Amino acid sequence: QTVPAPMIHRPVSLPALHGEIDACTRCPLYGPATQAVPGEGPADARLMIVGEQPGDREDIEGRPFTGPAGQLFDQLAEEAGLDRQNAYVTNAVKHFKFVQKGKRRLHQTPSTGEVNACRWWLDRELSTVEPELVVALGATALHALTGDGRDLLRRRGTIERTKDGRPLLVTLHPSYLMRLRVPEARESATRDMRGDLSRIPHLLK
Ligand code: URA
Repeated sequence: QTVPAPMIHRPVSLPALHGEIDACTRCPLYGPATQAVPGEGPADARLMIVGEQPGDREDIEGRPFTGPAGQLFDQLAEEAGLDRQNAYVTNAVKHFKFVQKGKRRLHQTPSTGEVNACRWWLDRELSTVEPELVVALGATALHALTGDGRDLLRRRGTIERTKDGRPLLVTLHPSYLMRLRVPEARESATRDMRGDLSRIPHLLK
């Protein structure tokens, strides 16, 4: 008689993990999306950046943070003295959630159920990469990493802990900055986010 192997979050290689993510059907979002978008970066990265979900461009290219929000993130990260190449960059949800409006695909915020279903992958990325510091970009990432995404504006700039006990820097999502129409509000939020990111080199020392 064979005994089923216990389910253990065992570290696997990143390519193997990304292969499993590519084949994911844990929630219905895989249906309309072009492909899953796993994280990207070195397997031994000391820093993990977590966004919300792939956007239109990321869904087509299969890589995280390559569209407008990613370009803004790269710019702010560079201004803060960070090199994205050294970080593992991923999302709380690995498939693009959207509604089709004519030719355009409009982003939709993932539900709690979708975030929870995808936590399986985020947990495995965390236990495989074992980063010293995690950065939550926005409320969805904060929810996925801590179980509570409320009060982002009050919590941003603080260091919390992920559910598995890693230091977590809370900051804004670049798409939030892009949605702010009043220039002063956008500049102020941009300053906040740049300030948060500029703490990372010190936190990693
Ligand atoms: N927004 C995200 O949160 N992640 C991406 O990969 C792109 C846009």
